[in-house]
Amino acid sequence: MNSRLEILVGDITQSDSDAIVNAANPTLLGGSGVDGAIHRAAGPELLEECRKLHGCERGQAKLTRGYHLKARYVLHTPGPIWRGGDKGEAETLASCYRSCLELAAEHGLETVDFPSISTGVYGYPLAQAATVALRTIMAFLDTHSLPRRVRMVCHSEEAAQVYRQTYNMWFAGEKPDRL
Ligand code: APR
Repeated sequence: MNSRLEILVGDITQSDSDAIVNAANPTLLGGSGVDGAIHRAAGPELLEECRKLHGCERGQAKLTRGYHLKARYVLHTPGPIWRGGDKGEAETLASCYRSCLELAAEHGLETVDFPSISTGVYGYPLAQAATVALRTIMAFLDTHSLPRRVRMVCHSEEAAQVYRQTYNMWFAGEKPDRL
């Protein structure tokens, strides 16, 4: 039973978890979508700190403070751009989730919230992304005690339904606390 995973609908910029994940681009200098929303909510100091990081490779992750966000930290990870599914997109997406979880565990963070990485501007089909996300998160939680809790914060009820259905398809016997 793995009750450390939750799926909910919300605006990740309002999260009060230890860290929220930003679906960034390799420059780490902001953008639209959730990247734009996080930078707007965190304030200009976030961009100042990001400038010093000199970018981030797709599938990797870098940590910054959260500034005006309720979340203490932001884990920035550039996801893959969908190019049909035969260009290593799934491996890169899995690496985004794993890199963020590893960095969170290294910093002793207990609660981490993810958006649905790459499923907006980057065009990754939602159900396929959900499969990669949930299987990667569940595999990590099975072998690590931190983070204590991981949440998928979906921006719409439709997206949350896809994550819930995907979760049930893969992990039917182990319902997380809230679905
Ligand atoms: N809270 C939670 N989820 C959100 C929010 C929010 N406030 N805003 C958007 N989302 C969701 C989208 O609905 C989508 O499911 O985040 C998911 C990721 O979409 P994008 O933000 O477009 O990110 P992505 O597809 O990974 O593309 C990244 O877009 O913003 C630029 O700089 C970014 O170049 C990068 C690219």
